[in-house]
Amino acid sequence: MTTIKEHCCGADLFFDEKTARKQYRQYLKKGPGKVTTRMIRHLGPISLSEKSLLDIGGGIGALQWWFLEKGGKETTAVDASSGYLTQAETHAGQHGWGERARFVFGDFAEIHMQLEPADILTLDKVVCCYPDYQMILESACQKSTQYISLSYPMDGILSKIVALVGLISARWKGISFRPYIHPVSKIRQVFEQHGWNRINHSFAFPWHVETYQKK
Ligand SMILES: C[S@@+](CC[C@H](N)C(=O)[O-])C[C@H]1O[C@@H](n2cnc3c(N)ncnc32)[C@H](O)[C@@H]1O
Repeated sequence: MTTIKEHCCGADLFFDEKTARKQYRQYLKKGPGKVTTRMIRHLGPISLSEKSLLDIGGGIGALQWWFLEKGGKETTAVDASSGYLTQAETHAGQHGWGERARFVFGDFAEIHMQLEPADILTLDKVVCCYPDYQMILESACQKSTQYISLSYPMDGILSKIVALVGLISARWKGISFRPYIHPVSKIRQVFEQHGWNRINHSFAFPWHVETYQKK
């Protein structure tokens, strides 16, 4: 069985610089992908002025750039991929956001105690990259003061087949990373148990996109 530490080292290799450059080119051409666009729609009605964003596993930073362009105060990206972080930091520097955008390398569930809480926390396609959904979601509940928006795959046989293909591809490359399909009802239960109300839900096949507000 892969340990969480091995898993996060694996994520650094799986989401490497080459993948980051490819995704960044795609972002420059087409803007945020369909799931990220759903999350942006959920967060759109919130006034961002003076608000902070903690973007966990933010990849090349599409949510962060949207947030800063719309007048958000500051962003912190925490990512287990150094390739993605380097790409995101370069973009922030090129856009004069160096002072408002911070980048932290590491496993969020492990380092969250060292981070300042933020008004909004996002986890876009990240929970499926982590073996222990409860641990990462509980860390998220602690580190957001107002809103959490996340996307994660539907459960069921189809998703499990896709995850299996991901596992085989990672193993073929010799990387200790794999995707996880966590039970949807259990994910929702974590938020309920920690005092969060679901205020929006949409579906962009095969992803659930949900936004929660602290009660
Ligand atoms: C599928 S990518 C999604 C990237 C981006 N959010 C997007 O939607 O394009 C998953 C990201 O989560 C990061 N990640 C996975 N587990 C993590 C953890 N425990 N702490 C921080 N980042 C993590 C990976 O390094 C990767 O950048």
